[in-house]
Amino acid sequence: MDLDKITSFCKRTGIIFPNSEIYSGLSGFWDYGPVGVQMKRNMTDLWWKEFVENREDVIGIDGSIITNPDVWKASGHLESFSDPLMDCKKCKKRFRADHLIEDELDVSTEGKSVDKLNELISNEGLKCPRCGGNFTDVKDFNLMFETNIGPVKSDNSKAYLRPETAQLIFTNFKLAMETSRQKLPFGIAQMGKAFRNEVSPRNFVFRTREFGQMEIEYFTHPDKRDNCPYMTDDIREYEVNILTAEDQKEDKEHKKITIGQAIDSGFMETEWLAYWLYQHYRWFVDLGVDENNLRLREHREDEMAHYARSCFDIDYRFPFGWKEVYGNADRGDFDLRRHIESSGEKLGVYDQEMEERIVPHVVSEPSQGIERSLLVFIMDSYTEEENRTYLKLHPKIAPVKCRIFPLMTKDGLDTKAREIFERLKEDIHVEYEDRGSIGKRYARADEIGVPYCITVDYDTLEDDTVTIRDRDSTDQIRVCIDDLNEVLVELIEGQVEFSEANK
Ligand code: GLY
Repeated sequence: MDLDKITSFCKRTGIIFPNSEIYSGLSGFWDYGPVGVQMKRNMTDLWWKEFVENREDVIGIDGSIITNPDVWKASGHLESFSDPLMDCKKCKKRFRADHLIEDELDVSTEGKSVDKLNELISNEGLKCPRCGGNFTDVKDFNLMFETNIGPVKSDNSKAYLRPETAQLIFTNFKLAMETSRQKLPFGIAQMGKAFRNEVSPRNFVFRTREFGQMEIEYFTHPDKRDNCPYMTDDIREYEVNILTAEDQKEDKEHKKITIGQAIDSGFMETEWLAYWLYQHYRWFVDLGVDENNLRLREHREDEMAHYARSCFDIDYRFPFGWKEVYGNADRGDFDLRRHIESSGEKLGVYDQEMEERIVPHVVSEPSQGIERSLLVFIMDSYTEEENRTYLKLHPKIAPVKCRIFPLMTKDGLDTKAREIFERLKEDIHVEYEDRGSIGKRYARADEIGVPYCITVDYDTLEDDTVTIRDRDSTDQIRVCIDDLNEVLVELIEGQVEFSEANK
């Protein structure tokens, strides 16, 4: 599917707008329109409810975007958080080396070192696509956005916008644990903005300079890294698409195996990592994403982040290739230990059983891109049929659950429709609409993924029933007004089939 088509569809329907378009925009930044903001909010609310509110072992925090720069020294981001860059010696244009190699040579550069990239460029005789000039050597460029605190700019005033939300979890670890009276194992979640000074933002909202993250740091005792009490036979038997590090070396495709097989064969190192990978893979599937477009990909040794012991991504099959929408690293005690050493604070936990102070391990770090996930839901549900284009979104993600149309704005039909609107809005997000023909109103609702539309007609005035139309099948059923709230809630929650909903 064409990404330009999705980009203009999102703009036309009020989902995503180019940022500051009236001033020619700003590369790597996007804004969310009236429809997109609602979809994004629905999606993040679902995530927070499932992984924080509904769990006794996960608590939330909301840290600030700018924090003491010592945090980024200790975390290793100032030293190691970079992208490979090179310049054309002739026209001086700057390129991101890995992206140019991918574009020109059609090979994956995922995880390749600077030396490997230099080798590829020289072996393949890669030249500047603009002027044919030679390149400088590839060098690492730090992705942290710099800013200054206070009125005087100096080395002491320098600060950074956070490149990941995770570090705020580590710096608040002790306070969050103590105030919530949590005991290991437990997780701390956070959702919010992060910033990376990407050299070449691209692929619509996939690679941007400002983006949202939904992250959990899941802490265990270092000696109990492998005992996940939530692992069940049902989870072990669940089949996922997996691309192992070994299979990547031989350019193989992903294969289908169960979570249990992934644990038993040893390449998913701990039950905890497998458990959380399952939880988020399943989250996408339960919200309607086609499993054939999802896979778990194990990181190869040479591409691991500086803090990771092992790492898996959830990739989605985008039109521009399989790409990461979620990463999950086993960070061990890397971060807490670095912050203990750097701050001098005792961030360890006293273990009553062993009568010793230990440094907990982050055995699993589910880290999900908010805009990337939204793009998954949009792309996966975008449907073109002969006479309509629509988003086949899961009702829970849909920006509006139901639109209410009076057949005409006269004879009391509009008054009745408004009465129904007032009653329904107590339980679900509904909109009233009376402009244009009913056909046009259906088309506008379908386009942004509204799953159900209600029409109030002359029969309604006689028998207090209305028509509900289903977006995907376009089938219609007649329902009593008194039952409407319950029927719609059941439909949205997936508790009843559409054809059975009025029985
Ligand atoms: N916290 C992991 C990441 O930002 O990729």
